[in-house]
Amino acid sequence: MPMAPQLPYPISFLLLSLLLLLPFSVFPAYGSITPGSSLTANPDNSSWPSFSGDFAFGFREVRAGAYLLAIWFHKIPEKTIVWSANGAALAPQGSTVELTEDGRFLLSDPKGQPIWVPTFSGGPVAYAAMLDSGNFVLVSGSGSNSTTTLWQSFDEPTDTILPSQILNRDGRLVARYAETNYSNGRFELLLQKDGNLVLATTNLPVLDSVNAVYWSPETRCSGYQLIFNESTGYIYVISKDGKILSLVSSVAAPSSQFYQRAIVESDGVFRRYVYPKSAGEKPLAWSVLSLIPSDICLSITQSTGSGVCGFNSYCALGSDQRARCECPSGYAFFDPNDRTSGCKPDFVPQNCDEELRKTELFEFVDMANTDWPLNDYEYYQPVTEEWCRGVCLSDCFCAVAIFREGNCWKKRSPLSNGRIDPSVGGKALIKVRKH
Ligand SMILES: *[C@@H]1O[C@H](CO)[C@@H](O)[C@H](O)[C@H]1NC(C)=O
Ligand SMILES: *[C@@H]1O[C@H](CO)[C@@H](O)[C@H](O)[C@H]1NC(C)=O
Ligand SMILES: *[C@@H]1O[C@H](CO)[C@@H](O)[C@H](O)[C@H]1NC(C)=O
Ligand SMILES: *[C@@H]1O[C@H](CO)[C@@H](O)[C@H](O)[C@H]1NC(C)=O
Repeated sequence: MPMAPQLPYPISFLLLSLLLLLPFSVFPAYGSITPGSSLTANPDNSSWPSFSGDFAFGFREVRAGAYLLAIWFHKIPEKTIVWSANGAALAPQGSTVELTEDGRFLLSDPKGQPIWVPTFSGGPVAYAAMLDSGNFVLVSGSGSNSTTTLWQSFDEPTDTILPSQILNRDGRLVARYAETNYSNGRFELLLQKDGNLVLATTNLPVLDSVNAVYWSPETRCSGYQLIFNESTGYIYVISKDGKILSLVSSVAAPSSQFYQRAIVESDGVFRRYVYPKSAGEKPLAWSVLSLIPSDICLSITQSTGSGVCGFNSYCALGSDQRARCECPSGYAFFDPNDRTSGCKPDFVPQNCDEELRKTELFEFVDMANTDWPLNDYEYYQPVTEEWCRGVCLSDCFCAVAIFREGNCWKKRSPLSNGRIDPSVGGKALIKVRKH
């Protein structure tokens, strides 16, 4: 009876409903993907939807001719992606994802070279299924054998967690590099092996290990799992005996009324979003229910690494609570298409050669409420602003001086942890070449 799924919809459904009542059913669940099935990466975005149609698994064209194998919310126009297999190695057009007749599951390019293969032990895969929870599963077992889940996307999340999904110890959500770049980014939410939940920066671009923790709730090192509760929408850390240790998101929103997801975004903020399932008071769009930390620009001050933004740039929180990386005046982005790439002077910097210091060729641009903490190499107080300007101007090491209430700090390049915020106070004096 492996033909059942090809029968017309109502008949096959009835048939399967009956057959599923049999003990040791030989038939996979309705909507499952049977050996010999495949999808091809092409402009019609072919996919395998879940039974309800809420989610789909398949290809998404994320740039011309380059495809992401992904899972997304299928019923909403945004088709928001919640998981992806090959963010760092996009698949060319004509690539296929296939459950082979002999029960292997793989993504390969048009020449047949594997791009991504899920790792699991056991097999062969008897069927695959896109579940209504948003979990994509590979299942073994047929005949009189009971079925076993060999692999599931819920166990290997990318940047998003969905209701009913659990993050175990050593599990992590890694931000993507940028909104439309699905490579690993610079931030992650990690339930550490020691039982602490942390938001941390990673050591990209060289290594993606943890650099600095910028948020952690009190869990007394006994965190066991991070739970996204399906019925309440709460996100919390529990201990091994099931006690709630820390509520990470405590705004109620039942999954019966809302699509929801929580994601570590490319600006380092962990946001929980909801989208109404039917029209009502709320608009039919994603809205943020909770976010951590509330001001990312002020939350990261790391002794090594560049901070929220790249070196020599600064972080500005927009009215939408999103971090935006900017260059100080006189500086420009290393990569104009990548605002996190850092900034470089757009002028020939001051030379430390005695003959070439030419202090008369340099001046300062003032930026109120701006600072680059932790980069000072000299500090004076109490002094006047004029004195502070003079001492930085005549010092060829000094790229920026910070003046605040009679205090003067000299900053050397590269500048890190940059931020602009009314709570910073004072001003930054950026040394630039006169036009
Ligand atoms: C495929 O997806 C792209 C990007 O998400 C979209 O622009 C395009 O309209 C889709 N094509 C079809 C046939 O749905
Ligand atoms: C049932 O399981 C056993 C042991 O796991 C395996 O050797 C056998 O091939 C399986 N039978 C079928 C029909 O899949
Ligand atoms: C995404 O960003 C990474 C890191 O900068 C870069 O190496 C990669 O080429 C980018 N990917 C795409 C598809 O632009
Ligand atoms: C989700 O919350 C409900 C209501 O508080 C509770 O009964 C249930 O056990 C929770 N589920 C999980 C997986 O913790």
